[in-house]
Amino acid sequence: MISVAIMGHGVVGSGVAEILATHKQKLFAAIGEEIDIKYILDLREFPDSPFADRFTKDFNVIADDIEVRVVVETMGGLHPAYEFVKECLSRGKSVVTSNKELVAAYGAELLALASEQNANFLFEASVGGGIPIIRPINQCLVANNVSEIAGILNGTTNFILTKMIHEGMGFEEALKLAQELGYAERNPEADVEGHDACRKICILASLAFGKHIYPDAVHTEGITKITAADVEYAEAWGGVIKLIGSVKKIDKDTIDIVVAPMFVPNESQLANIDDVFNGIMVRGDCTGDVVFYGKGAGKLPTASAVVADIIDSIKHFKSRKYLSWADSDNSSVLPYEDSVRAMYVRGVTDDKAAAYDKARAVFGEIHELSKENAPDSEIAFITEPLALSDFNEKLGQLGDIEAKSVIRIGDL
Ligand code: HSE
Repeated sequence: MISVAIMGHGVVGSGVAEILATHKQKLFAAIGEEIDIKYILDLREFPDSPFADRFTKDFNVIADDIEVRVVVETMGGLHPAYEFVKECLSRGKSVVTSNKELVAAYGAELLALASEQNANFLFEASVGGGIPIIRPINQCLVANNVSEIAGILNGTTNFILTKMIHEGMGFEEALKLAQELGYAERNPEADVEGHDACRKICILASLAFGKHIYPDAVHTEGITKITAADVEYAEAWGGVIKLIGSVKKIDKDTIDIVVAPMFVPNESQLANIDDVFNGIMVRGDCTGDVVFYGKGAGKLPTASAVVADIIDSIKHFKSRKYLSWADSDNSSVLPYEDSVRAMYVRGVTDDKAAAYDKARAVFGEIHELSKENAPDSEIAFITEPLALSDFNEKLGQLGDIEAKSVIRIGDL
């Protein structure tokens, strides 16, 4: 019998307890041992829970119990999750977490501590919910030099953009619907401003390129400024707008990493990933593109990834599962103004013909976009690829043309 503790009985934590109970036989067959939920840590009361006798409010009960060999952290947030996880690892317990904020902020440190203690620190559920992505990058694709990872990493924003694209909703209306359906939080900032996707691309970049990338080093834009007009111009161009987390290897010491809305061509595998689904493309030098698709959030999908990590931890009690990256000072991150991409511009002007001439004179070759019912005062075009600093300088030279939207063109 293997004793585990679950810290946090919210959506994911309660899903973990549920799967451990409902899939007991299946899991026994995988490891030849029964898994017992010895404790569930939560400050709230759950008198009607089938696990009511396992609840504790005292973390030390878990930390001090040498029978507990795997601790699941599904509390979310940084504190006290960080302190609790650190304490468990220090005592040689393996830890499994779904907490992307924790891994993005302290992954290098916690992995090093796990290594010192010959314990496992696993976090498959932190990126892509139920989609396997950490283990595939760490194991199945290990023979590859990964040159790029790009993905739709946030279900809430993908739901909002899908409603804007396919049902013509405005951002506010789509956000309200996402909140009503329980996808978006009452305070949706972490999702709509791109912070959640940023944490996830940081974890994938750290894993793929071997150095911890901290979220504050990553230029991050959300989707709050995307308008119905931009969605229509993207369609006229032959694509859709998606919030993309992207990391590309530029040379052996440099990566270009960003989170931003991008125009994604209809031919891209990422273009048709809709609603709350996530999709992640990994480009390997041996495999070419490999795309992972599925439910990036939700109780049982995310809990499924956590339970898989519990099983993997148990299988690797004796010889720890190798998963590691070095700490870093973010010096490998290309300054975001140096990043080269084609750009979409939507602007207003008094004289459309003169404005396009001016845009051509400033940017060189441009691709004009038109859509039905565009106001007479509106222009829209796509530039050739150029560094963002260059783009911003040229944008400033457009004189009377007032830029309303600028969006990156995804090379996907
Ligand atoms: N808020 C996140 C999302 C949950 O919408 O994708 C899963 O990390």
